[in-house]
Amino acid sequence: MIKIRNLWKKYGKLQVLAGLDLDVQNGETLVILGRSGMGKSVLLKHIIGISKPDEGSIEVNGTDVSGLSGQELYKAIIDMGMLFQGAALFDSMNVEENTAFFLKEHGNLKEGKKYTDNEVQDLVDHALEMVGLAGTQKKMPSELSGGMRKRAGLARLIVYRPSLLLYDEPTTGLDPITAMQINQLIVKTQKELKGTSIVVTHDILSALSVGNRLALIKDGKIAYIADPDSFLKIDDPVIEFLRKMISEDPRKFRDSCFNNANNNKGLNV
Ligand SMILES: Nc1ncnc2c1ncn2[C@@H]1O[C@H](COP(=O)(O)OP(=O)(O)O)[C@@H](O)[C@H]1O
Ligand SMILES: [Mg+2]
Repeated sequence: MIKIRNLWKKYGKLQVLAGLDLDVQNGETLVILGRSGMGKSVLLKHIIGISKPDEGSIEVNGTDVSGLSGQELYKAIIDMGMLFQGAALFDSMNVEENTAFFLKEHGNLKEGKKYTDNEVQDLVDHALEMVGLAGTQKKMPSELSGGMRKRAGLARLIVYRPSLLLYDEPTTGLDPITAMQINQLIVKTQKELKGTSIVVTHDILSALSVGNRLALIKDGKIAYIADPDSFLKIDDPVIEFLRKMISEDPRKFRDSCFNNANNNKGLNV
């Protein structure tokens, strides 16, 4: 369970988070939607403890991670994993080495012991199988497509079976079919690990494909949070835009946006 209270963060003059509150329940997949630059990545970095707030608290299973660093932080976030926006693979290592890196480096975190080479191999093979990358063990990241890189990033994340998974824009930059495969993988991973997931995205199709609850981040706060059906009914310009985007023919949608802009109603999102 994550409990975020009154979170404030400023970069220079830019107030990115402004008193944000958020509760994430164990076992749910919560999607945080929002336009670019609204602070979605900043929020995830605060949850995993690599950014520190100006004010406020972030409790993860009862421990406030906002003031921790070094070993203390490491212990508090031991069960968290994050899929970064660019997948962040090591370019000089092949897929297998990338996937094994964390396991070799840290061993079994929960039991505090090293893995044998055979154990590492089994865990890596299972993770690669799970993300549909069986047989690509020896490929280098430069030989992979965008979708495969995301899958490899996901394999590296799930190989140590974290119970809290953070995904930053997992489908951005992928073609729609590959994006849907990644959405399916997020759901499959959730089922296998029985963990809690937070998915940050601006992709409404992805949000509806994976989320149990949807939230919108706006003006430094969580503006709304609700189950998907209720969320789509909320009377807000951004949500209306998202709703129309998935329910109208793009030609009609384009024209209505254009007409609104001409009537000075604008695209008020
Ligand atoms: N380390 C940083 N230093 C300065 N500005 C930052 C930093 N990290 C994020 N920002 C700014 O904060 C705002 C929100 O960023 P971000 O969370 O990355 O947005 P997004 O919702 O697109 O993920 C952006 O304007 C970004 O430029
Ligand atoms: Mg971002």
